[in-house]
Amino acid sequence: MHTKHTSFGFSTRAIHHGYDPLDHHGALVPPIYLSATFAFPTVEYGAACFAGEASGHFYTRISNPTLALLESRMASLENGEAAVAFSSGMGAIAATFWTLLRPGDEIIVSQTLYGCTFALLHHGLGEFGIKVRHVDLTDLAALQAAFSPATRMVYCETPANPTLRLIDIAAVAELAHQQPNITVVVDNTYCTPYLQRPLELGADVVVHSATKYLSGHGDITAGIAVSNQALAQRIRLQGLKDLTGAVMSPQDAALLMRGLKTLGLRMDRHCSNAQAVAEALQAHPAVQWVTYPGLRSFPQYELANRQMKLPGGMIAFELKGGIETGQRFMNALQLFTRAVSLGDAESLAQHPASMTHSTYTPEQRAQHGISEGLVRLSVGLEDVADLLADIQQALAKCNGANLRPTTTAAYALK
Ligand SMILES: Cc1ncc(COP(=O)(O)O)c(C=O)c1O
Repeated sequence: MHTKHTSFGFSTRAIHHGYDPLDHHGALVPPIYLSATFAFPTVEYGAACFAGEASGHFYTRISNPTLALLESRMASLENGEAAVAFSSGMGAIAATFWTLLRPGDEIIVSQTLYGCTFALLHHGLGEFGIKVRHVDLTDLAALQAAFSPATRMVYCETPANPTLRLIDIAAVAELAHQQPNITVVVDNTYCTPYLQRPLELGADVVVHSATKYLSGHGDITAGIAVSNQALAQRIRLQGLKDLTGAVMSPQDAALLMRGLKTLGLRMDRHCSNAQAVAEALQAHPAVQWVTYPGLRSFPQYELANRQMKLPGGMIAFELKGGIETGQRFMNALQLFTRAVSLGDAESLAQHPASMTHSTYTPEQRAQHGISEGLVRLSVGLEDVADLLADIQQALAKCNGANLRPTTTAAYALK
């Protein structure tokens, strides 16, 4: 079976890439290699492995056959040359930063980022002599003006967590690559390669929280970085092996590969369910604003259509009356679960200002476009009629709340 053939479609590769059962006693599902260490036929071969002159596995923190299969599958799905697996998304992001940045360097990052990425930048990198500059990456003139001879990386999430603001990856990568030695890194967690492939648009590294849609069932924490061979090797040998040690367990790699098999199917359903929920929210008089890339009212609707295959499963909105009404709404939900994380089969609702983005100060949240009343929904895979009924009954319980319009908006595009 020519399972490495790149001409296979996305879902075929998500199921088969890199594996032939006949090489493994006919086992349909790839075996899990639990071994932490690997035998050397000779001491000379062991030395060659350590010197990078032989390609065998020798210690699972550096490589393992189960992780290697997952990594080759993820590289294929993102259309990259190689991937490195991590024990969490933050492991992948931290290892990428620590590998590619040095004291005195500058990193340009988009305005809104996941709370722990923001904390890593400001409390980690910032305190180790790396200058962090937040720039509105939808404004290419602002990006051009922000470059300095010390700039070594441009980093963004698109869509951003939680505002859903998009960055034009092709435009940003083209501009960044006119400067010497800049690596463009995109967090593709919200989209997965089924909806968006940043490397095809010019990015150099894609990072993921594979805890989310990629695994899809909320039962592991995992991360992935995908790039060309040379960068992946540096991220593996420095960021993974020495600087973080954040290695994925082989059991988690097996669960992640199980999740990948249904990624396309699940993303289609996440997107169609989210579209229906976003439209219902938009039509409701209690809703102040709703942001979803599939709505005509989405300020970057044209970019969403150009850059993403479908609008995704995440929604941000605010109710009239702001956070107090938002809390009443979230407490009234019966099918949506009040929980952080995203991309699971279960629909989830959370409040970024007090949860995932509480690493920002209130002033920073205001500056970075995260309003205090923003409610974030991760729309799951349940029957859409049940989801809509839950939203409607929770909105009905907001009656009698202060439904005066708030003054905050999701964000203002220039
Ligand atoms: C966009 C984004 N990137 C990275 C992470 C971090 O991933 P993990 O929780 O797997 O460390 C998250 C987690 O919520 C996220 O939403």
